[in-house]
Amino acid sequence: MEKVQKRYAELVAQIDEAQQRYYVEDAPTLSDAEYDALLHELQKIEEDHPELVSADSPTQRVGAGRGSSFAAVRHAEKMLSLDNVFNEDELMAWAKRVERDAGAPVHYLCELKIDGLAINLTYEKGRLVRAATRGDGQTGEDVTANVMGIKRIPHRLTGKPIPDLVEIRGEIFFPTEGFLDLNASLVAAGERPFANPRNAASGSLRMKDATVTAKRPLRLIVHGIGARTGFDPDRQSEAYELLKEWGLPTSDRWKVVKTIDEVRKQIAYYAEHRHDLEHDIDGVVIKVDEVALQRKLGSTSRAPRWAIAYKYPPEEANTKLLGVSVNVGRTGRVTPFAQLEAVQVSGVTVTSATLHNQQEVKRKGVLIGDTVVIRRAGDVIPEILGPVVDLRDGSETEFVMPTHCPSCNTKLAPAKEADVDLRCPNTQQCPAQLVERIFYLAGRDGFDIEGLGYKGAQGLLESGIITDEGDLFSLDEEKLGKTSFYTNKNGAISSNGRKFLENLEASKQQPLWRVIVSLSIRHVGPTAAIALADQFGSMEAIENATVEQMAAAEGVGNIIAVSLKEWFTVPWHREVVRKWAEAGVRMVDDAKPAKPAGPQPLAGMTAVVTGTLTLGTRDEIQDMLVDLGAKIAGSVSKKTSFVVVGENAGSKLTKAESLGVPTLDEEALNKLLKDGPAAVGL
Ligand code: IVH
Repeated sequence: MEKVQKRYAELVAQIDEAQQRYYVEDAPTLSDAEYDALLHELQKIEEDHPELVSADSPTQRVGAGRGSSFAAVRHAEKMLSLDNVFNEDELMAWAKRVERDAGAPVHYLCELKIDGLAINLTYEKGRLVRAATRGDGQTGEDVTANVMGIKRIPHRLTGKPIPDLVEIRGEIFFPTEGFLDLNASLVAAGERPFANPRNAASGSLRMKDATVTAKRPLRLIVHGIGARTGFDPDRQSEAYELLKEWGLPTSDRWKVVKTIDEVRKQIAYYAEHRHDLEHDIDGVVIKVDEVALQRKLGSTSRAPRWAIAYKYPPEEANTKLLGVSVNVGRTGRVTPFAQLEAVQVSGVTVTSATLHNQQEVKRKGVLIGDTVVIRRAGDVIPEILGPVVDLRDGSETEFVMPTHCPSCNTKLAPAKEADVDLRCPNTQQCPAQLVERIFYLAGRDGFDIEGLGYKGAQGLLESGIITDEGDLFSLDEEKLGKTSFYTNKNGAISSNGRKFLENLEASKQQPLWRVIVSLSIRHVGPTAAIALADQFGSMEAIENATVEQMAAAEGVGNIIAVSLKEWFTVPWHREVVRKWAEAGVRMVDDAKPAKPAGPQPLAGMTAVVTGTLTLGTRDEIQDMLVDLGAKIAGSVSKKTSFVVVGENAGSKLTKAESLGVPTLDEEALNKLLKDGPAAVGL
């Protein structure tokens, strides 16, 4: 028991300290996941030993107190926190209790849990007279002067009737988009950067100088009402409609539903779309919509019983920035990346994160040795948000970008004076670039050569049987026998080696666009390559085309055209093309067999095909669409007529949804092929 008591006291102290740093100093030293784990442990002890629970336990109160810079204000009605659930079972248990205790049918109001800081705005006869942070729930900090400067928070309510008094509760947030720019400008001014957008919101609001707050792009979304006279809505959702009419910024993403099943759908929807929003969210809040039932269900000292937060798994974690290394890409671009102490974030172990370029390291204000906040948003590659400045001990050092290529020691330089990226100009011989290029040309967008991966590329180059990609297609059994990667112990070609040679031979018949992609020309990806192949039909015609002619092809544009033209001026580049052609790589697209003059119901439409489909391979499905007159594009834009989405469709689906481009699943595709575009509403 003594041990439990000791641990209990330790936890209370740690949580107190964490709350002080989070709520009062805007400089948390723990990640949300670490904090939640402490709180969870404390709750578990309290469940097992209720005698230990005291009135000032962190489980019994709302947040932390106040800082000393602002005057104290008492809220007319207490500002509560929310209890959390972390899975469906806990959600169901909550709903069961609600439905039992409500004793009447319940409507659920689902809304986003915005990751910002709570604010209480007091309007008297429609005039904003006070704004206060939540503080300990009873008493907050008077931040009226600061809030007055935030755009889109009305100083006067409009419309009629306006109540004599109303407390409006909401969340102030810092839009994710402006966050990196803010840190960059803070670092440039010699000030401390923020660890994440939530801290940026809290820190920006609670500036001593309110004119600084006014310059930050803070926003508000209201999510409740406190004390009120002359205003008594029956439903919370009805209140939102009214608040909107009064000119207050309500969310347009709330939804009232009747069943917990529909609640689960909302939760699932925003789990998938949490990154398409202008602010961070850490969950969905579910509220009983009927105000009378809210009253009946009541609250604990900490949180209402009529609302619950369904928390998503955290995507942020704190870890150490051990060092910064640089990577040399296939077009010579040198990019720094962070080496991190291994940490679990949303289910995977992260040990590195990209830093894009040297300016980016500066902009983020991170030092080697810092504890940093990293975020892994969905399946996006992990990124560093910012440093935890308070944990610095003075031993941290600034990252200095190397001046010479780490692979071939050539002096690095920007391609053009104004470029931020540094490049290794030794494109033909730099070992790092060579391996990357060969690995890429063998990949899915290039020749798609099974049996040639990263290790294989290294093996071919290190053994000296090829000096650059130009030699690749003249490989034969004799030459390959000199690479340990493709041979057995006795020196004979391995079965992998043989398969590789077979695939290499077959890949010579790949369509022209894949050959173009495989040349690793800057800016020329599959979309541009498909357009070029369609337009010009042969490598020779592309080489001889003018910049204007190339730029006129749909999906090409000037930057790509100039890049291509420059590429062809380099003698060893032309030599690669010549050697490939000599070795039998197809440099001309076969003239498409004259189509039977069948109906062309999809003429004038541009389609994108993505994901895994069962009807045929992606190429086959694209051919079917082309036969009906459609054009195929490699990426989704406003001009795309429709996107065919198979299983595991990724960013193209998201893009289509955000642009409002129609999407067709396999069933709809079938219909389209059989009955034409009108049958699927196109
Ligand atoms: S309602 C009486 N709704 O989450 C109910 N809170 O963890 C009080 N929050 O202190 C809160 N989005 O600052 C509510 N849609 C939302 C919210 C929300 C974010 C914050 C709020 C609250 C904290 C609790």
